[in-house]
Amino acid sequence: MPNSSPRPNRTTHLMRYSILLFLSWVLSSAGHTQEALGTPDRDDIEYPDDEPPSAGEIALGKMLFFDTRLSTNKKQSCATCHNPDLGFGDGLRKGIGTQGDDLGRNTPHIYNLAWNVVFFWDGRAASLEEQALGPIQSKAEMGMSLPKMLKRLSAVPYYRKQFKAVYGADKIISEDVGRAIAAFERNLISDNSPFDQYIAGDKSAMSPAAIRGLDLYQGKARCTLCHDGANFTDNSFHNIGTGDKDLGRSEIVGDTSLNGAFKTPGLRNVTLTAPYMHDGSIASLQEVIEFYDRGGKLAKNKDKLIKPLGLSPNEIMDLLAYLGALSDPIIVERPTLP
Ligand code: HEC
Ligand code: HEC
Repeated sequence: MPNSSPRPNRTTHLMRYSILLFLSWVLSSAGHTQEALGTPDRDDIEYPDDEPPSAGEIALGKMLFFDTRLSTNKKQSCATCHNPDLGFGDGLRKGIGTQGDDLGRNTPHIYNLAWNVVFFWDGRAASLEEQALGPIQSKAEMGMSLPKMLKRLSAVPYYRKQFKAVYGADKIISEDVGRAIAAFERNLISDNSPFDQYIAGDKSAMSPAAIRGLDLYQGKARCTLCHDGANFTDNSFHNIGTGDKDLGRSEIVGDTSLNGAFKTPGLRNVTLTAPYMHDGSIASLQEVIEFYDRGGKLAKNKDKLIKPLGLSPNEIMDLLAYLGALSDPIIVERPTLP
């Protein structure tokens, strides 16, 4: 239960909500012990070498994240697709690469990944460091070779100076590029939404509709069966019946029982990142809830946990209000490129 321990100054408030927390512990499904909903604990972040990054490393990672030099035709940066003004998504159904390629999947947000254990919709990367060099080299995405990237970065005095200051080496190496970008990403944290304020004791932080929605979320609507814990994800994979042909997780682990299974995405700031699902097939949050209410689309291999919910129109609105209360947008000022 890594994310369930309260911050020390929240202990008393949390006790008041022990009933709510107790309920979510009691429910469990398919061998998955449910974690209580809560606020992510920054003390639980596992940093590489147990060292939180320095301000210099984060600033370097931020610059790289926004730098279009990382794509072969200098048209795209990470922030083109993970756009801070669009909840770190791109607002498109599916991502489009620097040369116009269709990436086949929806661009996910990238905050609160400090607590994440699997990356990509199909979980094919195990760390942010490992992940970061992927899109740079991917032909369909930024299309850069690592040697070409290093040559470009080394030609910029800012990067030579900053890499030396942060990592102490005269030469820029790709591992350090990955480390710096990961340090910036790990620092993108959203943990002060109306929901967080509410569970910390401020009962006025959520509207009555959102409070009813929280009850539904954990009860009748069964959302916590998968979207649980402080980041509203079980870090696991399910086929919820979008009916798309993408095989998802099964292609990575070679287990056909996981055909069409994708990672449960975290739901913080979810109002900002339409359209939804790995294939961007659902345009709005209300339609997502209506999709679950119908028990998904008919699809082979659909998870048994997905079934019709019998929600009333008012209950759908309450759930929507609750999802809105998970918003705490992250403001990132765009740097001036060197
Ligand atoms: C052309 C658009 C595009 C660009 C450029 C891009 N990404 Fe992505 N990113 C995506 C898409 C699409 C996915 C989902 C792919 C999948 O799951 O198969 C993704 C997934 C991710 C994830 C995994 C998130 C999760 O929840 O598991 C991270 C982290 C990430 N990208 C970081 C980056 C970084 C860092 C860069 C720059 C080096 C970058 N991306 C550049 C489109 C893009
Ligand atoms: C059986 C596990 C499971 C249950 C139960 C479940 N979800 Fe999901 N949810 C997922 C998975 C897995 C995905 C990604 C599926 C995909 O892309 O194919 C997802 C995707 C979503 C998304 C899209 C997020 C994004 O960034 O694209 C939202 C919103 C969402 N769920 C909300 C809910 C709500 C609200 C409930 C309760 C009514 C719920 N979920 C119940 C597993 C579940």
